[in-house]
Amino acid sequence: MTRIIAIANQKGGVGKTTTTYVLGHALAERGRTVLLVDLDPQSSLTIACGREKEGMAANLYHVLGGQEPGTHALRDIVVKVNPGIYLAPADIALSLSESGLMLRMRREYVLQEALAGATPDYVLIDCLPSLGILTVNALVAASEVLIPTQCEYLALRGLAMIYQTINRMRPANPNLQVLGILPTFFDPRLIHSREILEAMRARGLPVLPVVIGRSVRFAESALAHESILTYDPSNPGTQAYQALAEVIDG
Ligand SMILES: Nc1ncnc2c1ncn2[C@@H]1O[C@H](COP(=O)(O)OP(=O)(O)OP(=O)(O)O)[C@@H](O)[C@H]1O
Ligand SMILES: [Mg+2]
Repeated sequence: MTRIIAIANQKGGVGKTTTTYVLGHALAERGRTVLLVDLDPQSSLTIACGREKEGMAANLYHVLGGQEPGTHALRDIVVKVNPGIYLAPADIALSLSESGLMLRMRREYVLQEALAGATPDYVLIDCLPSLGILTVNALVAASEVLIPTQCEYLALRGLAMIYQTINRMRPANPNLQVLGILPTFFDPRLIHSREILEAMRARGLPVLPVVIGRSVRFAESALAHESILTYDPSNPGTQAYQALAEVIDG
């Protein structure tokens, strides 16, 4: 059965896109088929995949539509990125879905309906940093939600908001599970980082047993349109995302 994982946090720059991209590649390394869904008009995931050009032709906006229903099926826009890895690209046009969907009936279910025929082992949905209608669509379509979080005080405070949104989604998606909180940009030298990680665990939050450290290799590899897994195989970040794939897929 296809597992649909929304990678979500309304806070910006916490590693959502990086997690979608690298985790997708780590799952593919394990022989799984993965569909990456770029649900962010910033289209960072599409850019990281080096598929901006294809994304401009037909993208998720043409599937989801705006005020009017979309003109394309999901399979019409999906492009192959690497063996086992496919991408539903985005471009800035997707911002028209965000405004237009508000005027549609059943606006929360549009992505769920678009994904109905998809059969990869995993669908990973990269959400934008907001709790608007696009993120709501992701949380309705998903079976699980993964929440990357920086180990900082304000990030910890911000978790309450995403939890509230998840709980508000329950009537539309009663089976949605929180896969876990993924600590990102962790710096073991900083007492603050360690304290926040401890605080999350002490509050009983479902913190995953994998912590992603800070490394400039993530940005460098994105520039090279390559995942850190092949760009720097011995980097601790590579090993952490491979461990995360094992936790999820093991
Ligand atoms: N563990 C990390 N260590 C250092 N840099 C990282 C790490 N993870 C991601 N980055 C870099 O930080 C920046 C933001 O990461 P990313 O785009 O994944 O965050 P995001 O949550 O998707 O942001 P947005 O909310 O804008 O969509 C990028 O330049 C990325 O390469
Ligand atoms: Mg992003």
